[in-house]
Amino acid sequence: MTYLSGQAGYPLVLVRLIFPVCLVATLAGCSTAGMSGGTSLPDMDSPAAQIFVSRCSACHAVPHPGRHSYQGWLYLVPVMEQRMAERGMAPLGVEDREVILTYLQANAR
Ligand code: HEC
Repeated sequence: MTYLSGQAGYPLVLVRLIFPVCLVATLAGCSTAGMSGGTSLPDMDSPAAQIFVSRCSACHAVPHPGRHSYQGWLYLVPVMEQRMAERGMAPLGVEDREVILTYLQANAR
């Protein structure tokens, strides 16, 4: 953000206005735009969906659960866990994996 303040004449008011909006939008749905086509996730307000979003949007837009069958997710989630390990990220752990897979199962294709 520092590069913005370095630009002479940049309307700071605009930055102040836009920044919080972006932050909220990122949390709520901006990050879902890529893979889910801008549609919101099923049960967006549920704790499971929140865990899904927080764990699955670190490297790419959060994918829509309907993108794959449950079988597909059973294959893909361990691959993603491998990607997390490769980047030194904390593993999902038994609990989060369970929550995420249950959420995916309920909303899979
Ligand atoms: C550490 C970074 C990282 C995290 C965290 C991550 N992914 Fe990924 N994801 C990737 C990468 C890298 C790819 C590109 C394909 C590959 O390398 O396997 C990808 C690709 C995908 C794809 C596209 C592949 C396809 O066939 O549709 C889906 C869907 C996906 N990830 C789902 C998830 C889910 C679900 C989670 C949470 C459990 C997750 N990702 C968390 C790195 C990550």
